[in-house]
Amino acid sequence: MKNVTITGWGKCVPQSVVTNEDLASVIDTTDEWITSRSGIKERRISHVNNSDMATLAGKRALAAAGLQPTAIDYVIVATCTPDRQIPSTAAYVQTKIGAPHIAAVDINAGCTGFIYGLSMAHGLIATGAANRILLIGSEQISSYLNLEVRSTAVLFGDGAGAVIVEASEDDSGIKSMALGCDGDGADHLTVTGLGTELVGADEPRAIVMDGAEIFRGAVVRMGDGVVAAVKDAEWELEDVDLVIPHQANLRIIDAIRRRIKVDEDKMYVNIHKYGNTSAATIPIALAEAVDEGRVEAGAKLVFAAFGAGVTWGAVAFQWGDRVEPIATTDEELPEPTQTGLEILIANQRVLQK
Ligand code: ACO
Repeated sequence: MKNVTITGWGKCVPQSVVTNEDLASVIDTTDEWITSRSGIKERRISHVNNSDMATLAGKRALAAAGLQPTAIDYVIVATCTPDRQIPSTAAYVQTKIGAPHIAAVDINAGCTGFIYGLSMAHGLIATGAANRILLIGSEQISSYLNLEVRSTAVLFGDGAGAVIVEASEDDSGIKSMALGCDGDGADHLTVTGLGTELVGADEPRAIVMDGAEIFRGAVVRMGDGVVAAVKDAEWELEDVDLVIPHQANLRIIDAIRRRIKVDEDKMYVNIHKYGNTSAATIPIALAEAVDEGRVEAGAKLVFAAFGAGVTWGAVAFQWGDRVEPIATTDEELPEPTQTGLEILIANQRVLQK
């Protein structure tokens, strides 16, 4: 089997910022409540489609790898907020990015989508079924936020992160993976009022969550996932340079850190800037960690996630030699014409239709 690694990375976060104070002007909440419960200070709200964010993150990852779009042969988009139910968001990304005819598919594992995508990309490349995969985690979760459900409306944001996955020429790459799902917990985190179910499709659209169950599950599954991935990689926890956890809640990240006993500076955190962007948190965090110099050549990384399903996954990953992008692109999203708060409020009218 081939070693499978990441050679390009990129992110796209929309320009419009919604602060906790902005939310407190339309919801019965406070900056103090949101910050103390979640660590979130602000989030981005998208004025473009999910596939537009995904495409730009993908173009940035391609540039970082020094590749033209025609050099990839597969696009996987991990998302639970597709532009449309049919076709896949990956189909839009494939054409917008300029990679005609190649395979394109969405996967939905909630917030664990990027980790599941990485495991699939690993299998496709290790077996020779694909050579170079653009793997994107991208979410426009603001479309599901119901401002009347304050317990979840304050936690999420929009954004996309992307990586290029291909066979590695050295020892770098995926060293182990630990994935799972407990379908008995499916209703612990769900979006109501969407989908084809026979009962419940006419409920108001909202993210509905059993916060305490999700909190407990996230700490145990992500914490134990990191430990299992490290063991399977035949590493020691002390050898790990950086854990990049799913950014759901700062208290969850802190509890994982205490559970697995790693230092604070070994847990990557950017939730204060973006909130929970679901399947996009890990590739956004990875792109930022590399660009900030937090990932050195040969670094031992662990990615860990937990999400709807309930799903979980962890990957032990050894970074290669290159920590600089080969190239960059100056392409940007169009300028928004509304504030983030105006976009969120406009979404509410759509939700009520
Ligand atoms: N602002 C002010 N008050 C609020 C808000 C809000 N936005 N939301 C809820 N409250 C109130 C509740 O109504 C409740 O009031 P009451 O006691 O008068 O009934 C009070 O705050 C406490 O509510 P709890 O749900 O007990 O608050 P808790 O301290 O448990 O925090 C939270 C809630 C942050 C959701 C917590 O359960 C949690 O961190 N869960 C983890 C889930 C998570 O972060 N999920 C992210 C998505 S899932 C994923 O990515 C894996």
